[in-house]
Amino acid sequence: MIKGKMLNALNEQINAEQYSSLLYLSMSAWLSEKGLPGFANWMYVQYQEEMTHANKFFKYVVERGGKAQLNAIAQMPVEFDSVIDVVEKTLVHEQYITALINNLVDVAIEERDHAAQSFLKWFVDEQVEEEANVQEILDTLKLINGQGNGIFMLDRELRQRVFVDSTAATTV
Ligand code: FEO
Repeated sequence: MIKGKMLNALNEQINAEQYSSLLYLSMSAWLSEKGLPGFANWMYVQYQEEMTHANKFFKYVVERGGKAQLNAIAQMPVEFDSVIDVVEKTLVHEQYITALINNLVDVAIEERDHAAQSFLKWFVDEQVEEEANVQEILDTLKLINGQGNGIFMLDRELRQRVFVDSTAATTV
């Protein structure tokens, strides 16, 4: 049975992943309004992914006999300066989530919770991919200065992204 510090940290992560999902949904709305349907689509898929992350933590807590606790979610930003600003904020947020995941691993090691360490490995790997994907978009955006024909091409490319539940293949 999971309890104490580990349980609290996992419950905080459910909240953080839910916040992430709504942050990206809010960004998707902004991008859509600015006439960037491809970026809006990419961010909407990001929202869907974050929901699966929150659910994966929720299911794990329940499976380990813990009480999953859902708390109020902080207000996410609704206005942004530019598309570069949106993607920069996404990268900063993903780096913050990586730090939270690393902290969770530290707690699992401290508590000698081997099951949690094994469970968290998926998220450690996922964060490497998440940060790399966002960094790549940001690099391209900076290269084209966030405007012109380049942004049109990039928007078209990001329209291709489709949601795949990458948590579905795992046991929890
Ligand atoms: Fe669930 Fe993007 O970290």
